Amino acid sequence: MIIAKTLAEFESARAAVGSGKKVGFVPTMGALHEGHLSLIRRSVQECDVTVISIFVNPTQFNNQNDFNTYPRTVDNDCTLVEPVGVDIVFAPRVVDIYPNAAKGDGAPLDTRVLDLGGLDQYGEGPRRPGHFNGMAQVVTRLFDIVKPTHAFFGEKDFQQLAIIEYFTRNLQYPIEIVRCPIARGEDGLALSSRNELLTPEQRAAAPHIYKCISKGVDMVGKVSVAEAVAAITQEINSNPLLETEYVEIIDGSTLEPITEWDQAEKIQLSCAVFAHPVRLIDNLKLK
Ligand code: PAF
Repeated sequence: MIIAKTLAEFESARAAVGSGKKVGFVPTMGALHEGHLSLIRRSVQECDVTVISIFVNPTQFNNQNDFNTYPRTVDNDCTLVEPVGVDIVFAPRVVDIYPNAAKGDGAPLDTRVLDLGGLDQYGEGPRRPGHFNGMAQVVTRLFDIVKPTHAFFGEKDFQQLAIIEYFTRNLQYPIEIVRCPIARGEDGLALSSRNELLTPEQRAAAPHIYKCISKGVDMVGKVSVAEAVAAITQEINSNPLLETEYVEIIDGSTLEPITEWDQAEKIQLSCAVFAHPVRLIDNLKLK
């Protein structure tokens, strides 16, 4: 396994792969867990070569404290992925991804405003201003550098995945975006690098989120959408260590919140919940 820590190192490793191969790519921000490993295994199974990136992308954090405290464990991550069959780890410096950083004048790292098809208007979008544009900046930059044929993303970041599918199509990247199911712990908690930041008490409380949202499945068509949102919100908040930021029932394609069950063919429930100060997101297919 090659570990490339600069753009030049990566480009020489990528050139050695040559063309005509299926190159699978799993972009990550590190602090790897079983959820990432499930994406990596899928890539190793389906592709000739697997590349992962580890880069805590500054442009997608709208909260400096969240960026500063995001767990960084690159050496451990590399040890974890080598036996799974990764061929190249790309763990670049900020300047490799955003050449503007070399100027050191505090100017924006990337000024591009990408077309996200309006999919950033709902859910996480207004609550994390700039997040999806920053995410799109880094993912397009990584696509340009890594030149994968396939890229693997988890449905835990449901909105992120819809946006990536949109801009991959819109910008005509010849990349197949592979949707992978949410990896959960045995207790139902969606696996996330942020789970590392929970206290033992919060970690014990967090599976309550999945228990509550799972009840949404039986509410479809039985109570109104507004009643379902209110009941699930109240039940999550009944745990004193958890506080919902939002619970939304949305059209699974446009991501717009719905008010009637027959308003959309695919229906998804999504939520963000604080175990202060950690913010956890989850989602579930209702229809
Ligand atoms: O999902 C993530 O970990 C990040 O948003 C991604 C796709 C690696 C871009 O930084």
